[in-house]
Amino acid sequence: MTFEDKIVLITGASSGIGKALAEKLTLKNCRLILCSRNIERLDLDGGNILKLKCDVSRKEEVNAAYNTAIEKFGKIDIAILNSGVGHRMTVGEYNSQYAEETFSVNLLGMVYWIEKLLPDFIKRREGVIAGVSSLADNRGYSGSGFYCASKAAATIMLEGLRVELKPYGVKVITIKPGFVRTPMTDKNEFKMPFLIEPVKAAEIIVKGIEKEKRIIQFPLPTVLMSKFVGILPAGLYEFLTTKINV
Ligand SMILES: NC(=O)c1ccc[n+]([C@@H]2O[C@H](COP(=O)([O-])OP(=O)(O)OC[C@H]3O[C@@H](n4cnc5c(N)ncnc54)[C@H](OP(=O)(O)O)[C@@H]3O)[C@@H](O)[C@H]2O)c1
Repeated sequence: MTFEDKIVLITGASSGIGKALAEKLTLKNCRLILCSRNIERLDLDGGNILKLKCDVSRKEEVNAAYNTAIEKFGKIDIAILNSGVGHRMTVGEYNSQYAEETFSVNLLGMVYWIEKLLPDFIKRREGVIAGVSSLADNRGYSGSGFYCASKAAATIMLEGLRVELKPYGVKVITIKPGFVRTPMTDKNEFKMPFLIEPVKAAEIIVKGIEKEKRIIQFPLPTVLMSKFVGILPAGLYEFLTTKINV
């Protein structure tokens, strides 16, 4: 698959991985629809770029953004659903508001966009949905339970959809980054192993989409580490995370 002449949606394009993806794709001769709440931080310009203010956790804003995108470009070919939030929280801070925000952005924000995209993708028997999950979708890491749960839900939801949409020619890709240096991870006080720059992440994601990979996961050492952590028995996992105190 190529990005040439495609119409590409990126949600969460104002910062971090989404911003790096947008910058990378300006070199690919495609048209871009860039979404986020802080539209002033979407600082790319040009006739091939449509910037839309859209809170993905609000279905009516997603519907309106979709309609504006279709009015302007007629269709969307590739949707990179990247918007996300991550709150770290101690048990003393436990509150449902974090859960509501995390699930409504990281999971429902994806679902609202997919709901709008699917009828046209199925009718045209083409289209790519690339959802950004995380390598943290495999366990409940302490301090990040809501985040991990939202990413686990996103990964599983995308997997189910990939199977169901195959006969319709619609591709579903799951993107699972390890640690990437962005405003989201700048808040982390622990040492992040194998941290990579957003430009590198964008390069891997773009290549992975071009190769039509089912799952784009990186960097390799973190992928291997997460696979290992994923198969640990619950008791051993608890013992080790308590020791490491991540
Ligand atoms: N950085 C990592 O190590 C890492 C690892 C694994 C997975 N990820 C995932 O990668 C994605 C991008 O994260 P990042 O690290 O690049 O974080 P980031 O720099 O904080 O960027 C998050 C993006 O999401 C947007 N966003 C947040 N809430 C939104 C909402 N309600 N509606 C629309 N857009 C919203 C933000 O834009 P506005 O605030 O302007 O709306 C921003 O553009 C996320 O899904 C994250 O979970 C990141």
